[in-house]
Amino acid sequence: SSGYFTFDPGFMATGSCESSITFIDGAKGVLLHRGYSIEDLARDADYIEVCYMLLHNKTPTSEEYADFKNTITRHTLVHDQLTNFFRGFRRDAHPMAMLCGTVGALSSFYHDDLDISDPEQRLRSAYRLVAKMPTLVAMCYKYNVGQPFVYPRNDLSYAENFLNMMFSVPAEDYEISPAVARAMDRIFTLHADHEQNASTSTVRLAGSSGANPYACIAAGVASLWGPAHGGANEACLNMLEEIGSVDRIPEFIARAKDKNDPFRLMGFGHRVYKNHDPRATVMRESCHEVLEEMNIDDPLLNVAMELEKIALNDPYFAEKKLFPNVDFYSGIILKAIGIPTNMFTCIFALARTVGWISHWHEMLSQPGQKIGRPRQLYTGETLRKYTPIKK
Ligand code: SDX
Repeated sequence: SSGYFTFDPGFMATGSCESSITFIDGAKGVLLHRGYSIEDLARDADYIEVCYMLLHNKTPTSEEYADFKNTITRHTLVHDQLTNFFRGFRRDAHPMAMLCGTVGALSSFYHDDLDISDPEQRLRSAYRLVAKMPTLVAMCYKYNVGQPFVYPRNDLSYAENFLNMMFSVPAEDYEISPAVARAMDRIFTLHADHEQNASTSTVRLAGSSGANPYACIAAGVASLWGPAHGGANEACLNMLEEIGSVDRIPEFIARAKDKNDPFRLMGFGHRVYKNHDPRATVMRESCHEVLEEMNIDDPLLNVAMELEKIALNDPYFAEKKLFPNVDFYSGIILKAIGIPTNMFTCIFALARTVGWISHWHEMLSQPGQKIGRPRQLYTGETLRKYTPIKK
C-alpha cells in the first residue's frame, strides 16, 4: 500500500531470484564470490577484505581496506543496555536463543539506519551488523560460562578481537596464537556466503516485506539454527562424541546406510555439492594445520579423521555423493580452539551475517523490488458445507 511494496503474483513464484554475489557449480565443486574463487580468497584474503568485496562487488584498494577496517572496528561496541537483555536469559540458555533475541533487539537502538530505501542507511546497518556480531556472540558465551563480558579492542584484528572477547578474563589476558587467529579468520571467510541457502532465502524473504535489517538477520539466525543447516557442525561434534571411539565407526556407517534408520552422518552430504564442497577442501588444510600447531591429540579428533578416511573410501558414500562438507572440519577446528559445541552455530551465524546482509542490500537495490510470495500446490479439500456444532 506504501507504493514501495506491491503484490506481484509472478515474482518469486518459484522462490527464485537474481543475484550477482555467489556462484556455485555443485557438480564441479565450484564456489565463486563476486567471481573470485573461494580457494583464492580463503588462502590469500582476510575476512574483512571478503566482507568489503561481498558488499561492494569489488576488492578494496589498500586505502579502502584501511578505511573499511577502521569503520568496522569502531562499530564493534554494543549499547550497554543490551547487557540487560542477557540478564533475562537462564544461564544455560542455548547461545543461538540469546543471539536470535539480541540481534533482533539491535533495531531498538539504531533508529538512524532503518530507512531501507536509502542505500547509505542500508550500508550503515550492514557495517554495524558485521561489526557487532562477534561482540554479541562472545557475550552469549560469557553469559553461559558466568564470566564478565569483555569489551572489544581497537588494536586487534577482527578474528583476534573475537577470540579475545571469548577467552580473555580480567585476571589474565588471552594469548592469541597467530595460527589460531588465522584459522578463525579462514572459518569466517569459508562461511561468509553460499548463494540461496535456507537462511539466506529467509533473510531475503523477510527483507522483501520491508522489515528492518536487524529483524531480517534475526530471521536468518533462526533459520540457520536447524541441524540440517547451520546446526550441523554442533550436531557433527555431538555425533563424534556418541561414536566415542574408532572401533565404533563401522556401527555408525552401517546406520547411515540403513534406510530404516533416520541417523545421518552429520557433516556429510550437501543439497548442492554432488562432487566435493570446495570449502571443505580448504577447511581440511586448516584443520590439520591447527591440530599440528596446537599439538592436539584429542581422541574425538582421531575419531573424526578415521571417519573421514573410511567414508571417503566407501563406495556407498561415493555413489550417494556424500563427502565431508564445510561443517565437518569447521567443528573439529572450533573444538581444537576450545570453543564449546553449543557455540558452533553462533560462529557460523557471525560469519554468514555479511552474506545475508549483502543479499538483503542487493535485493533492495534492484529496481521494482516486490514482496516475496513463494507459491504452493494446494492439496486440500474442495469447497464443503460448514455445519456449526451444538455448543
Ligand atoms: C550447510 O544450502 C547450503 O548451502 C547450506 C550450507 C551453507 O553454507 O549455507 O552449505 C551449510 O547446511 C551444509 C550441510 C550441513 N548439514 C549436514 O551436514 C547435515 C547432514 N547432511 C544431511 O542432512 C544432508 O546431506 C543435507 C540436508 C545436507 C542434504 O540432504 P539431501 O538434499 O536430502 O541430500 P541428497 O538428496 O543429496 O541425499 C542423497 C542420498 C539420500 O538417500 P536416498 O534417498 O537417495 O536413498 O543420500 C542420503 C539421503 O538420504 N544422505 C545421507 C546424508 N545426506 C544425504 N545419508 C547419510 N548421511 C548423510 N549425511
